[in-house]
Amino acid sequence: MGYDAKFRVWRGDLDGGELHDFTVPVNEGEVVLDIIHRLQATQAPDLAVRWNCKAGKCGSCSAEVNGRPRLLCMTRMSTFTEAEVITVTPMRTFPVVKDLVTDVSFNYQKAREIPSFTPPADLKPGDYRMKQVDVERSQEFRKCIECFLCQNTCHVVRDHEENKTSFAGPRFLMRIAELEMHPLDVADRRDLAQDEQGLGLCNITKCCTEVCPEHIKITDNALIPMKERVADRKYDPLVWLGNKLFRR
Ligand code: SF4
Ligand code: F3S
Ligand code: FES
Repeated sequence: MGYDAKFRVWRGDLDGGELHDFTVPVNEGEVVLDIIHRLQATQAPDLAVRWNCKAGKCGSCSAEVNGRPRLLCMTRMSTFTEAEVITVTPMRTFPVVKDLVTDVSFNYQKAREIPSFTPPADLKPGDYRMKQVDVERSQEFRKCIECFLCQNTCHVVRDHEENKTSFAGPRFLMRIAELEMHPLDVADRRDLAQDEQGLGLCNITKCCTEVCPEHIKITDNALIPMKERVADRKYDPLVWLGNKLFRR
């Protein structure tokens, strides 16, 4: 059965904006993105929203629904009561371009700062077989659709713009962890993670894991193991001695 939903949508640009109220018809089985599209089609033709697949796989439609970071195409209207006012706002951590569209180039900048996969120089195709456990670890991390909801949620940058230069965010600390734990990668990424990409700023609040639409265990399977690797070296007496002797 259809009904009329009350929507409150943020409209504006970098110079400022405000919430606008709309009443929009809803049909059974629809998601928030359907309602935003109906709003565009019938009442606000210049409303900006980024989307592509409408299947939770492209990571384009990230925004905040009632203050919670969500994919608009995967947020079912049936999760709200008919009387509820549904507030849709752009991701807070990134600069607004227009309405619900944000400039997520911060994330592409962080991606570029991570050296790519580095296998041994003399490794030839077919020379190496990976263990299933190593394959599965990488596969979990590679489910990432780069929606950047985890990046948007992490309080290290959400509440502290000044941390952006020194913090890669959960998605890219996970990328470093994936490569660091890859049996074929010979680069040592521990200093990069700790000193340049802000691993120490993460205090494992797990908010990133909670919002990940791919249910990747970002904190438990990537960030904590990466912290352990950094700590192992720091507190290993042989490594400590080696650093004293050879790194003056
Ligand atoms: Fe999105 Fe999850 Fe990837 Fe973060 S790790 S960008 S929340 S899919
Ligand atoms: Fe941020 Fe996730 Fe760490 S939310 S603090 S990166 S556990
Ligand atoms: Fe592709 Fe929502 S439109 S994830």
